[in-house]
Amino acid sequence: MSHTFKLNYDGSEFEYPVQEGTMGDIAVDISSLRAQTGLITMDPGYKNTGSTESKITFLDGEEGKLLYRGYPIEQLAEKSSFEEVMYLLLEGELPTQDELTIFKNTLKDYNFVNDRVKKIIDAFPQEAHPMGVLASLTSSLTAFNPKSVNVNNEKEMYHAAARLIGKFSILSAWTYRKMTGKDLSEPDNNLSYVANFYQMMFREKNKDFEVNDVIVNALDKLFILHADHEQNCSASTVRLVGSSHAGLFVSISAGISALWGPLHGGANQAVLEMLENIQKDGGGLQKWVDKAKDKDDSFRLMGFGHRVYKNMDPRAKIIKKAADDVLNQLGIQDEVLDLARGLEEVALKDEYFVERKLYPNVDFYSGIIYRALGIPNEMFTVMFALGRLPGWIAQWKEMRQTNQPIGRPRQVYTGEPTRDYISVENR
Ligand code: CMC
Repeated sequence: MSHTFKLNYDGSEFEYPVQEGTMGDIAVDISSLRAQTGLITMDPGYKNTGSTESKITFLDGEEGKLLYRGYPIEQLAEKSSFEEVMYLLLEGELPTQDELTIFKNTLKDYNFVNDRVKKIIDAFPQEAHPMGVLASLTSSLTAFNPKSVNVNNEKEMYHAAARLIGKFSILSAWTYRKMTGKDLSEPDNNLSYVANFYQMMFREKNKDFEVNDVIVNALDKLFILHADHEQNCSASTVRLVGSSHAGLFVSISAGISALWGPLHGGANQAVLEMLENIQKDGGGLQKWVDKAKDKDDSFRLMGFGHRVYKNMDPRAKIIKKAADDVLNQLGIQDEVLDLARGLEEVALKDEYFVERKLYPNVDFYSGIIYRALGIPNEMFTVMFALGRLPGWIAQWKEMRQTNQPIGRPRQVYTGEPTRDYISVENR
């Protein structure tokens, strides 16, 4: 049944179409509102604004439900692989065995970067944050691959995505080599995408390297869980930059910068730093929960709350269990994990958090796994970026292929009304 939305304004009635999604989302299409009434809509932070239709990811924040191309995240995390999920997000369907083999081989074909990129890395200070380095290196790829992609050509889009994914694992691993002062490693194309990334991070020069399956499986699962999350801050940034018809690599570089902030992907680093501070402070949890509730204190419980989830983040549930499994399998006791569990318990009973529906999000437990795998705090958001890359590319591709208009919000001006210029001697 089709619906319309009626608006009474200034004594006149206006009608707007209501758009319905396949999973029950409904939206009023107000694109003609200003032309008809002179009104714009105000929604700072886009809390209630739909910027696009999308066939990629479905998220129900009330139910705590997340689907990629219709498949529940729980099934993908348990049964699929990161390579398969990348294909699913980019191409819309799970691959056949042949399609998957071709895709994996194509990623391997692009798993190299121009030698001059090494010189760019060399020029960065060692103490540079790896997210800044990653954003710059991703942007620099444009210089080495100047041909833009024809977004109406499926084959070119497939190769553009594979090219970026193939190179991104090297760039991500190299940000770690740079910050730890190690020589730049080389890819090993006998390994899966995730195992290859892992060996590029940790292999010592001229030494054998044994891939630890527990670690690779944990990373694979984490990357699947991070692979897309519909119109979040970084994906919207990628779409907005790309809407001006800027190229794929620079659009993704902008997405990396958006992800870096502590309210978005940077929260995983902030969570671990917060837990370490709580530990140093003696482990008293209530004090920190009270601090987070104090409106005169800017401190927030990092890893809690979400713009869309008003229930437990389904990814957090899976990661919490995975953190338990990984620590058990690796025989690691981590007091920080106990603190995280304790903090979750205290916060979930606290009226402030209950009332505001603030639950642990994806970043709350992911840092604990990364830490168990020997990955330093500053690299956590790079891990998020590597996982999120296929989602960003899928969003960019969909935006360009559906020919979305350039993104350009409006505003309500509240500054000085028109006034005349006064020369400096008369001010
Ligand atoms: N600690 C304490 N209070 C909080 C928190 C928190 N972590 N999160 C939200 N609140 C309060 C906030 O102060 C506000 O209270 P009041 O209604 O009294 O003013 C209320 O809850 C609603 O918060 P909001 O800031 O209006 O909600 P938002 O949708 O604009 O922000 C958020 C969502 C994720 C930015 C926010 O919850 C937050 O800052 N969380 C901590 C950072 C974090 O973990 N970020 C990762 C998000 S998940 C991964 C990702 O997307 O990258």
